[in-house]
Amino acid sequence: MAKIIINDVTYSYKEYYQSIFDNINISIDTDWKLGLIGRNGRGKTTLLRLINGEIEPDRGHIFKSVNTEYFPYSQSTEYSKTLDVIKESIGMLKTMEDAMEEIITSDDKKRFEEYQDILDKFSELDGFNIESRIKRELNLMNLSEELLEQDFETLSGGEKTKMLIISLFLRKNAFVLLDEPTNHLDMEGKEAVSNYLSNKKGFILVSHDRELLDNVADHIISINKSDISIEKGNYSTWLDNKNMTELYEFKTKEKLEREIKDLEKNSVMKRSWGNTANKEKAEFRTFGRSNDSRAAKFMRQAKAAERNIQKNLEHKKGLLKNYETVSDLDINQNISDDDALVTIIKLSFGYSNKSLFNNFTLQIRQGDRIWLRGNNGTGKTTLLKLISGEISSEQVQHQEDIKIAQSYQEPLWQKGLIDELTDDREFKYRFFDICKLLDIKVFAPDKPIETYSSGEKRKIDVARALASENDLLLLDEPLNYMDIYFKEQLEKAILEYKPTLVFVEHDEGFGRNISNRILNL
Ligand SMILES: Nc1ncnc2c1ncn2[C@@H]1O[C@H](COP(=O)(O)OP(=O)(O)OP(=O)(O)O)[C@@H](O)[C@H]1O
Ligand SMILES: [Mg+2]
Repeated sequence: MAKIIINDVTYSYKEYYQSIFDNINISIDTDWKLGLIGRNGRGKTTLLRLINGEIEPDRGHIFKSVNTEYFPYSQSTEYSKTLDVIKESIGMLKTMEDAMEEIITSDDKKRFEEYQDILDKFSELDGFNIESRIKRELNLMNLSEELLEQDFETLSGGEKTKMLIISLFLRKNAFVLLDEPTNHLDMEGKEAVSNYLSNKKGFILVSHDRELLDNVADHIISINKSDISIEKGNYSTWLDNKNMTELYEFKTKEKLEREIKDLEKNSVMKRSWGNTANKEKAEFRTFGRSNDSRAAKFMRQAKAAERNIQKNLEHKKGLLKNYETVSDLDINQNISDDDALVTIIKLSFGYSNKSLFNNFTLQIRQGDRIWLRGNNGTGKTTLLKLISGEISSEQVQHQEDIKIAQSYQEPLWQKGLIDELTDDREFKYRFFDICKLLDIKVFAPDKPIETYSSGEKRKIDVARALASENDLLLLDEPLNYMDIYFKEQLEKAILEYKPTLVFVEHDEGFGRNISNRILNL
């Protein structure tokens, strides 16, 4: 049974004095199905990159006897047919096939040794069975075999993701590291990946999706506020344990606080005896009792009480170390006099290969919270672009001087320093405030955007939209990459401040909770 052992590992991003891991120890069995969880910016991606060997620990070691394979990765090859692209991604099998073919056709006997070498390698990678294995995996992923004949570049985003995941599991002796693979997938895609992974073993899956983790994981690694833990079970088991531990710790804390109060009362009394002037103590002596020894006893008791208080305080410090807090977020939006903000009348729109809207009519009124719902490719983001005016159309009318703020699926700011991206001081104050409330770690003006984690980058994008003056807010999949605490925070703020809003989101629970109109595309 192979293992991955993380031994006393310490890691930090030195340029920004940000310590990520401090002497962590984990031992992973490579047959396990692991879910890796933790709030945005805690170091999930960093941990995978360490395990994958892309970055080196500052101190400590990582031992592994398997090949680790990381998702997402970019597939670059000269081949274009999907079957060839997949074969190529499994140890360059297609290149080998072509080379062998070429040697055979050349009929050059001198190249026999070269042929034999390639053949050995090809067999070692199970090249002769690869097509049937690929097809079996396609079935498990609920993908049609016909896609194998199609150009890889013409596959939809979801199909590409699923193909890339499959090809990782087809690699030899592979332990697969999946960093949020379902983020861009619709409900069907998520379900397909979930079912696929539930039949696999030997992977670490980073995800914020509770259902997915419940369906596929048998162990959970959690990067907590103050440590890192690994537990047997799925997400729900982990959550139950966490809730139980925290409840116990809350109760213990209350009990300790009560005890401290009692002890303090006592020790104050005792201390005041200790401080009593000797003259008074002498008077006390006239009662004929051995009040000196009484004084000594009081002192001893006072000291014991002090010691107990210290002990309780120490014990208290160790409690609730991993308890997460969530700040309240506020949303300030203009209230305009006019009720109709955007009106779309009989819009027909599409792209060269696909018509998306036909005679489409929609009016966005103040107070609307419209949920745009539909599978990948139904035109949700396109509709947001039409509403915002990024794609202009005569069939879309905007209220005069309307201000629309938008957070995008792909954050607007990808690189550079925040100071150089905007010089609007007032905006910047609001923006920095919101970033702080969103729990972005070490939020510093001199830290370039590209060095933030995926979730943090998207939080920065939401903060940018919320801080911009607006009459209408557009959010494109605001929960993608975000941890569960952000979801709770955003949901609460939207329900409290009720901004006029159009949003796309694949999280059904969130959509149902915050919307007051649903538009199925
Ligand atoms: N190249 C880098 N240089 C400096 N800081 C970095 C770099 N990469 C990540 N960080 C910081 O390290 C912390 C951990 O980042 P990491 O990407 O590992 O988090 P994560 O848990 O994967 O978060 P998310 O859920 O958002 O994907 C973040 O606060 C991030 O800002
Ligand atoms: Mg990450």
